Amino acid sequence: ELQERDSLIITNDFARSYFEDQLYNTEEGKSIGLSYFKQRGFLKETMETFGLGYAPVSRDGLLKAATAAGHREEQLEKLGLIRNRRDFFYDRVMFTIHNLAGKPIAFAGRVLKKDVKAPKYVNSPETEIYHKSDVLYGMFQARQAVRKLDNVYMVEGYTDVISLHQNGVRNVVATSGTSLTSGQASLVKRFTENVTLLYDGDKAGIKAALRGVDVLLTADLNVRVVVLPEGQDPDSYMQQVGSTAFEQYLEEQRKDFLFFKADLLLEEAGDDVASRTTAIRDIGSTLALVEDPLKRAAYLQQFSGRLGIEEKLLINLVNKAIADRR
Ligand code: GTP
Ligand code: MN
Ligand code: MN
Ligand code: MN
Ligand code: MN
Repeated sequence: ELQERDSLIITNDFARSYFEDQLYNTEEGKSIGLSYFKQRGFLKETMETFGLGYAPVSRDGLLKAATAAGHREEQLEKLGLIRNRRDFFYDRVMFTIHNLAGKPIAFAGRVLKKDVKAPKYVNSPETEIYHKSDVLYGMFQARQAVRKLDNVYMVEGYTDVISLHQNGVRNVVATSGTSLTSGQASLVKRFTENVTLLYDGDKAGIKAALRGVDVLLTADLNVRVVVLPEGQDPDSYMQQVGSTAFEQYLEEQRKDFLFFKADLLLEEAGDDVASRTTAIRDIGSTLALVEDPLKRAAYLQQFSGRLGIEEKLLINLVNKAIADRR
């Protein structure tokens, strides 16, 4: 007997093939969707690897095709493919979100026109087969490279994953613009203990790098950070400089997260004693998340030197932060 989950995946798979068929085999899809992806530099092979597609302007194409193929309307509604008897995704290019077995569990659609007030991306809702907080976009395509290289790059966007993958950086997944969850940390841990955050070179990107890292440290992952040049995201920077220079940048700029955070906070604090004290306390509470005693001792030693503070004092600070959390 077919389980409910299998049946949802089968319907999503129909939707995936519909969006792909629209992209490759219709005049509208070719002239709008395919040319959009091509203009972004995506090759056919890459588009197939990531299940890219096109949702046409009309709002009943998928509803008609899917019901004609025997998929129940109720099921389409449940998956968020249909809303109020109309296609939910329309006039957008489509991104398939896969599970670890490569099955389509959800979709994201991106607007094509810059002027519209509609959100840039819309997503499938949470369903029995799609728990957003347990998913990292691209993990299916990245998993082998992540294991082999023993490191995963975390980026913000779908197109960052696709662009890096096409250019040879295959150990890459996206958080899809939200803060990290413990479910995502556990997912990563199945493949590697090393995470490198690769965030946009703007204030928002740096904030995003600071936010949610607690969850990774608590999961005993080694966290490193690379900040891209101002105004660039991983996709745009890769397109601009090419893969050799891109990978060289990663090598050169890679910083341990705790040192990155400390440098950032201390730079912001400047010479002001009160701000500096607050910054050091903040660093202490982040350090308190590191459970491995050896790793923590190594950090304490390093920080003591960097901050010009006696190691004993730092140890007390960290122990107090641990006690306060309990
Ligand atoms: P492009 O503009 O196509 O290059 O995409 P991007 O990934 O660079 O977009 P951006 O940097 O603005 O956002 C990063 C990620 O946040 C996206 O890939 C999405 O996952 C998510 N995101 C951005 N805007 C929205 C939105 O309006 N709604 C939702 N649900 N997610 C969004
Ligand atoms: Mn951004
Ligand atoms: Mn460990
Ligand atoms: Mn971006
Ligand atoms: Mn982008």
